[in-house]
Amino acid sequence: MSQKGYLKPYVYIRHENHIPDPGRVHKIDWFDQEPLYKEALSLSDLPFGEAILNLENKAFGLDLAMPRWVFYDCALAPGFVCGYAIKADWLPESFLKALGGDVSAYGEWIPISLFIVIPSIHKGEWVAHNLCAINSLVPDQDKLYGLGFLTKAFGLWYANVETCVGMTQWGKPALKLHSHYGHMEVLTSYTPIHTFAKTMTYRCQVQTSVWELFFTKGQDTVFGDKYALTGHTVSQSDKQSMIAFQKMIESGRGPFYLSGEEVITQPLDSDLNIYQKKG
Ligand SMILES: CC(C)(COP(=O)(O)OP(=O)(O)OC[C@H]1O[C@@H](n2cnc3c(N)ncnc32)[C@H](O)[C@@H]1OP(=O)(O)O)[C@@H](O)C(=O)NCCC(=O)NCCS
Repeated sequence: MSQKGYLKPYVYIRHENHIPDPGRVHKIDWFDQEPLYKEALSLSDLPFGEAILNLENKAFGLDLAMPRWVFYDCALAPGFVCGYAIKADWLPESFLKALGGDVSAYGEWIPISLFIVIPSIHKGEWVAHNLCAINSLVPDQDKLYGLGFLTKAFGLWYANVETCVGMTQWGKPALKLHSHYGHMEVLTSYTPIHTFAKTMTYRCQVQTSVWELFFTKGQDTVFGDKYALTGHTVSQSDKQSMIAFQKMIESGRGPFYLSGEEVITQPLDSDLNIYQKKG
């Protein structure tokens, strides 16, 4: 994705949550542009917040749209929102249509992706709470390739996140992204306490060397050196298989991992090998 003057990362955050020394931990030069800062508690920046919610509601649809109180209580109060914004005059026609046709109330910059990450009380972990990109709403020829992936990468880089936990549904495209921020440990493979029981919970130690593999789809030699097949697989379409994997996890024989290389190269409904650390 090119980053010209009309496209830049943004950070929508309450001022007390500002991250000291953004980019200190992950040494990568992908985000050397000053982000657009918006104050999440101010009325003057409210239109930008409304624009984020509008995008999120369109990307997730009526059934899954995030309630405003979740956005405020569970995202803006403890964490922050970031993503990419585009200059309103540069919005392609299909983007405008996807956002509902009239963006005049939102201001000069319009958010076209969002990532929400919040700190957790467990060992300095952060929880990835929401990710979406306008790409899911526009025709293929208008997509900004890598927008969703770079949106999360920017947030992890910006907040110096070393350990990231998150959740996603088996068989969804998002798994291809989430498996490329670091080697993916599976914390739950079947999660009936969630709205969607076929949710998996993952954790990764963030490693920028893995990020590049998302784009190159190259071989992850470090993963091959570190992890071995267990002989078990998980089906992304079969509930019983997810439950069987969940029982393996609960038996304490783990931790268990998925190969990002397999996730990105296999079809969305494929069975995935389950790995374990060697030795
Ligand atoms: C999931 C989502 C964030 C991905 O963002 P994106 O900007 O579309 O994806 P990127 O451009 O960063 O990455 C493209 C890659 O992602 C994967 N991908 C994205 N959409 C895909 C789809 N519909 N089917 C299969 N793979 C897909 C592919 O690996 C693709 O690369 P490839 O075409 O070279 O194989 C976006 O589709 C979205 O907002 N979806 C709706 C909300 C949602 O489900 N969020 C995830 C919550 S966990």
